Amino acid sequence: MTEHSLHLEGPEATAAAGAALAAVLRIGDVVALSGDLGAGKTCFARGLLHALGFAGEVPSPSFPIVIPYAPPELRLPLWHVDLYRIDDPEEIEELGLDEARADSALLIEWPERMGARLWPDALRLTIDRDGPDARRLTWTAPAPWEGRWPPRT
Ligand SMILES: Nc1ncnc2c1ncn2[C@@H]1O[C@H](COP(=O)(O)OP(=O)(O)OP(=O)(O)O)[C@@H](O)[C@H]1O
Ligand SMILES: [Mg+2]
Repeated sequence: MTEHSLHLEGPEATAAAGAALAAVLRIGDVVALSGDLGAGKTCFARGLLHALGFAGEVPSPSFPIVIPYAPPELRLPLWHVDLYRIDDPEEIEELGLDEARADSALLIEWPERMGARLWPDALRLTIDRDGPDARRLTWTAPAPWEGRWPPRT
């Protein structure tokens, strides 16, 4: 397992990192996207969705908790999930994330809410502040992600 990081100078760089993920993302993948309120998680998701071909606006899933996307609007079925409002880990069972993995990729904001339920094969990304107008993306890429993440630049 490797851990590395990338400096993100401005929101465009965060969206570009999301776009880089689009090039390697497959059905069954889980991407856990951590970071404080306002870190840039949804900005990353927007870059990913647009690079997958989605042309619409990408809202935050904080209230619906899950926003599913599917072809033909984009190239790959993807669930955009935000677990911020989940207090009881039992509620996570009801979302059907396990079943969704069979035919979709999952991008999960606030994956900490899953505790030990988070799959060990998930790509774990974290966005932190790096000075006033920049961020740093840090990751832990388990074996299934070797050769796929980090993106070759
Ligand atoms: N690399 C960056 N440098 C500076 N600002 C950034 C960077 N990436 C994103 N931002 C800005 O951070 C702000 C918050 O972004 P975003 O809404 O994506 O955060 P979030 O992590 O989804 O927050 P929340 O947890 O509240 O949903 C936006 O104004 C966005 O433009
Ligand atoms: Mg958000």
